[in-house]
Amino acid sequence: MSGDADARWQGMRVIARGANRVCVLDPDLPGHCLKYELRPQPGMRRYWRRRVRHALSRRFPRFGLNATELLAWRRLHARMGDDLLGRVAPCIGIVQTGAGTALRARLAADASGRPAPSIASLLGRGPGGFDPTALVLALDGFEAWLLANRIPLSDLNAGNLVVVERDGGLGLVCVDLKSTVSGRELVPLSRWAWPLMRAKIQRRCQRLRERIRAAAGVGTLADPPGLT
Ligand SMILES: Nc1ncnc2c1ncn2[C@@H]1O[C@H](COP(=O)(O)OP(=O)(O)O)[C@@H](O)[C@H]1O
Ligand SMILES: [Mg+2]
Repeated sequence: MSGDADARWQGMRVIARGANRVCVLDPDLPGHCLKYELRPQPGMRRYWRRRVRHALSRRFPRFGLNATELLAWRRLHARMGDDLLGRVAPCIGIVQTGAGTALRARLAADASGRPAPSIASLLGRGPGGFDPTALVLALDGFEAWLLANRIPLSDLNAGNLVVVERDGGLGLVCVDLKSTVSGRELVPLSRWAWPLMRAKIQRRCQRLRERIRAAAGVGTLADPPGLT
């Protein structure tokens, strides 16, 4: 998940790179972004699995990550409609561009239209670069919303959530819904059994809270030196 104000990919402004895709500003539609699937690189986690899937998606687009995310969005949107507004970045569709096939999505942006930073990029700023209390509050709110609506978003990593200002505080917007339809488990039990999924969401949120506190230098594990 890297973000660099001047980075370009195929001539387009890079917003950030995830583990699988590069996300760029849509040059044809203001307020939107395009996501391109990247060829998996040796050494990545689950390399062979990713490699086979990537190869298959060339012939059968439904195996692609963009198709998975679009399906996830359509299913969730069919169920929840406008209740998703402000919580999930809407997917628009698959588009053919000069640089290849992409998923077009609405840009999660700040008040001036710039791409909202992911939690990962905020944490990368280090202590003082973000407000950990406001961020943890935003995460608490997002977790409560997921649980109240039984949304099986299991991949709660710091790159999949971007941070926006909301009601004088911070709010989170999910920009990657893939995990709501494609579990990693061999037997994706938690997809059907809500209590397991709920526990998983709670675990992942807790891990994220700990990362936020650690990055802010406010870990709760150690007392400052000198205290007995
Ligand atoms: N709709 C969006 N609005 C703003 N930024 C986005 C959006 N979608 C993705 N991004 C940025 O691109 C990064 C990678 O996107 P993601 O969909 O998570 O790709 P991957 O499939 O590689 O995980 C995110 O961490 C985020 O910074
Ligand atoms: Mg992601």
